[in-house]
Amino acid sequence: MEASTVYPALEHIRALDPERGRRRLGIVLGSGWGGVVEALMEIEGQAAYADLPGFPVSTVAGHAGRLVWGRMAGVPVYCMQGRFHYYEGYSMQEITLPVRVFALLGVKGLLLTNAAGGIRAGMAPGQLMVIEDHLNFMGDHPLRGPNLDRFGPRFPDMTRAWDPDLRERLAKAAADAGVALQSGVYAAVSGPSFETPAEIRAFRQLGADAVGMSTVPECLVARHSGLRVAGISCITNVAAHEGGQALSHEEVAEAASKAQDHVIKLFTRALPALQQTLQD
Ligand code: HPA
Repeated sequence: MEASTVYPALEHIRALDPERGRRRLGIVLGSGWGGVVEALMEIEGQAAYADLPGFPVSTVAGHAGRLVWGRMAGVPVYCMQGRFHYYEGYSMQEITLPVRVFALLGVKGLLLTNAAGGIRAGMAPGQLMVIEDHLNFMGDHPLRGPNLDRFGPRFPDMTRAWDPDLRERLAKAAADAGVALQSGVYAAVSGPSFETPAEIRAFRQLGADAVGMSTVPECLVARHSGLRVAGISCITNVAAHEGGQALSHEEVAEAASKAQDHVIKLFTRALPALQQTLQD
């Protein structure tokens, strides 16, 4: 079957975006990251998720819910301003549908961003962490079910889930921009509750440096399609304070927007570097 029949959003975007095929980088902006669009993007076109046939509709406050395309820091990109989450009730296949559409649009690399709770000592609110690997604790998998052979194999390799070259580019861009960038392992949980202190102690023992409720499904589907994947977490809080301090979504959103200056500096340097790697 034609891809545009299975993914009707594809035809819609193709019709609106004359520059399709030139955009090698797809970006997904998580909680609190949306400001980079206003700060760094020359928008050439956009579509609300609600207007994209087959797309789910985002339900989380603070997520704009649109696909924009244009140049970000001079680099031609597709950018999702707001994502779909498993905890909203969608299936794993639904929340990763935009990644399939990116792949069919010809995107070669995906930059995933999120807000996360810090687990490793020193992962303080406001810090940025490049994702070096992940732990999938979501209890589900977006590639479960019949394999979509047109995208990739039944048993995709994940030894390089988080692309080493792209990570190196991010680290260098951060150093050049004078922005501190940690590196660590991101553990994904389904949510919507935040974790208990016992869960965080367990995750720490299992090698997690940060925890969040997204990103891993998108990485799995992107890797299945052969896209190269990079990720950055904005640490918004210390996960499950042992002190018993309660955690709220407002705290998370506020901390993410405070990190915005650093994110803008980092993206300004990093996006052209990522683009370069994707062209090599
Ligand atoms: N846990 C899970 N997801 C999160 C957190 C957290 O502490 N902070 C931001 N997203």
